[in-house]
Amino acid sequence: MKINFLDLKAQYLSIKNEVDEAIQGVINNTAFALGPFVKSFEENFATAHKAEYCIGVNSGTSALHLALWALGIGKDDEVIVPANTFFATPEAVSLCGAKPVFVDCESDYFNINPQNIERAMTDRTKAIIAVHLYGQPAQLIEIKSIAEKNNILLIEDCAQAHLAEYKGSPIGTFGACGCFSFYPGKNLGAYGEAGAILTNDKELYMKMIALRDHGSSQKYYHDCIGHNYRMEGIQGAILDVKLKHLHEWTESRRKKADLYRKYLADVKDVVVPIEMPGVKHVYHLFVVRVAQRNDLQKYLQDNEIYTGIHYPIPCHLQKAYAFLHQPKGTFPIAEKMADEILSLPMYAELTEKEIQFVSHKIRDFHKS
Ligand SMILES: Cc1ncc(COP(=O)(O)O)c(C=O)c1O
Repeated sequence: MKINFLDLKAQYLSIKNEVDEAIQGVINNTAFALGPFVKSFEENFATAHKAEYCIGVNSGTSALHLALWALGIGKDDEVIVPANTFFATPEAVSLCGAKPVFVDCESDYFNINPQNIERAMTDRTKAIIAVHLYGQPAQLIEIKSIAEKNNILLIEDCAQAHLAEYKGSPIGTFGACGCFSFYPGKNLGAYGEAGAILTNDKELYMKMIALRDHGSSQKYYHDCIGHNYRMEGIQGAILDVKLKHLHEWTESRRKKADLYRKYLADVKDVVVPIEMPGVKHVYHLFVVRVAQRNDLQKYLQDNEIYTGIHYPIPCHLQKAYAFLHQPKGTFPIAEKMADEILSLPMYAELTEKEIQFVSHKIRDFHKS
């Protein structure tokens, strides 16, 4: 049985008519950049997360960059970020000319450890980016209170956590704003690149609206230097169609996670992910920990089961950040994780039989 890591085709086939119609609608209206389809998606995405405002952009990286830029992060500023995240999180800080200050994660949930945040602060610290890694919210109450106590900004990187909840509230507006990615493989994925920012702050929203479109709020009148971070009409229309299914797909992912936990329960060498009390994890990724990770990955691949590693090298050890001089050993938990983590196939259309098969092969590997 061949099991892909992701199956975007299966999802498309389940909503083919709706998606095809939406794409045709954009072409019929020639609404290719921003326009009514993007606007409709922005409104619905904000409502789904109980946020006041949403700005559709052309990637999650642009969302992070635009948010930090509009919040005034710049040269000589420092922004605290987890060492274990996708590279785009610290990269957005660097794009603003500021310095990412890495912090180690906690070992149970893999998210930034609030206890390490204050230690990493200096008088240059302007913000913290809390990443809801793999779809599990970070410890937002603790992080928010540290941010408030120290008068610094909190930004959420929600790229992997659409519709996730922290103590009953959707993530995205616990701080100044929340940045999302709609990269095709995400829980809510575009058919190309896209991203968005949620905020309840009208002034920040207006700034981001202008910066997204060459510093202008009226065509050909430019009040400041901005960029072209506009979302495409086709992406807005497709995302609006897919958003209607997202609650159902999210529940399906959560059920798949429970099935993995059930079928892997007796495999002692595999540590399955646990949910932090009071959060709704949306399982963008189902990440287990295994000592013989590389051998297991190869064994599964030989059996046509495809897995991923998110991420093999923590950010502080990336060549791009060698200039920060944080050698191996600086963040031991993130580094150990990078050697042991394995992302198993996870998507709403995965069947129980497939999960049983993957679990069975993992058990076989550990027996042999
Ligand atoms: C945690 C995190 N932040 C930011 C991004 C960047 O998003 P994009 O790929 O849409 O630019 C991603 C996407 O992989 C991500 O996983």
